[in-house]
Amino acid sequence: MPATVVVGLQWGDEGKGKTTDLLSDSVDLVVRYQGGDNAGHTVVLGGEVFKLHLIPSGILHPHITPVLGCGVVVNPKTLLDEMSALQERGIDTSRLRVSHAAHVIMPYHIAQDQATEARLDAEGLGTTRRGIGPAYADRAWRTGIRVGDLLDRQGLRHKLARILPGRNAMLHEAFGLPVLDLDAVHADAAACGERLAPHITDTTGLVQDALAGGQHVLLEGAQGTLLDLDHGTYPFVTSSNAVAGGACTGGGVGPRQIDRVIGVMKAYSTRVGSGPFPTELDDQTGRHLVERGSEFGTTTGRRRRCGWFDAVPLRSAVAVNSASSIMLNKLDVLSGLPELRLCTGYRVDGRDRHWPLSADELQRAEPVYRTMAGWTEDLGAVRRMSDLPPAAVDYVRAIEDMAGVPISLLSVGAERTRTIVRDPLGDGALAVRALTEQSAA
Ligand code: IMP
Repeated sequence: MPATVVVGLQWGDEGKGKTTDLLSDSVDLVVRYQGGDNAGHTVVLGGEVFKLHLIPSGILHPHITPVLGCGVVVNPKTLLDEMSALQERGIDTSRLRVSHAAHVIMPYHIAQDQATEARLDAEGLGTTRRGIGPAYADRAWRTGIRVGDLLDRQGLRHKLARILPGRNAMLHEAFGLPVLDLDAVHADAAACGERLAPHITDTTGLVQDALAGGQHVLLEGAQGTLLDLDHGTYPFVTSSNAVAGGACTGGGVGPRQIDRVIGVMKAYSTRVGSGPFPTELDDQTGRHLVERGSEFGTTTGRRRRCGWFDAVPLRSAVAVNSASSIMLNKLDVLSGLPELRLCTGYRVDGRDRHWPLSADELQRAEPVYRTMAGWTEDLGAVRRMSDLPPAAVDYVRAIEDMAGVPISLLSVGAERTRTIVRDPLGDGALAVRALTEQSAA
């Protein structure tokens, strides 16, 4: 049985949660492969809205085993809080599995992230201040605490006694912050370990056994390609590999085990945090996108920066992820705009330029637009491509031409049923059953 990767092709918040949810009926395991509680997935299920940060949205389906792979950084407190919140709403969280090799976000990581951002102020990266970067830095430095370490009280204390003095010196001397107490940090971490113990396991073995046993594994990326540590707009990126390749290292699968990569994007662009954004709109159209698209961060509540669809990074995003098809979300949000623009190129210092550019060059990039007709019709009830207004069909086809791979799923609203399945024999086939059963119910 295959492994499918769901990956964001833009700056995150593309609606990957809906894609995963749509495919969930044919999936046995959903594995998050990178990122931490900086992410946010909003899933609308049975009229209820679920906002998830760390736990894969597969948790909402009783037949799915949700997994946090070794490429994830885990804040144990927020994980336990998220589990409790789900339990209070009647969701069983006992199936959740967390990799023993995933790294733990410790209180000193959060303090360092917050203090660095506060000091840099407008010059900062605009991180989510959840300690993501410092936790991944410790992993690379080989001074990290792993989830499995939380289970060994004595060993954990020994490691913390070695690490904490250096971190305290940095917090105190560089930022003037109070130092952290070894006993308290140790007691908190060990208590979280006790509570998480039933969930901690070798998730790579779990995933491999599932694949060997003919189960379908879905690997779910957080953030998006343009926030990838290596392929994004460095340094305005997150600290992990959001691209599909990250699913191998962070999820525990080999490249030949992945046979389907669904790239997810929105019909326009958004970005949260700092960094260049050539098609950003600071006008009435930008406000339309924020309001109609409810473009506020799931994790931080920050208003997302909005802009026209940018096709310049699209080709390379499709290529670097080897996307086999695309799910295009939020087409309905564009209804009511008199005309639409697609960014098809950049001019930098008077010359035509292509992706990738350095963050500096990208900052100076002037977008070259193709203008297209808009439409006024509400798309919420549309379920077939042929029922879309002609201008919307032209817009989708233009994006598809530039992407070079089929757009097999189109979303016209947050609910699961508000989806157009264009390619029932390809990636869309996985979604067809879910939608058919939903409309029959
Ligand atoms: P960090 O991941 O908190 O270190 O933040 C680094 C950059 O990634 C910042 O610009 C954040 O706003 C952005 N970022 C992190 N997670 C997400 C996400 O889930 N969606 C959108 N942007 C994100």
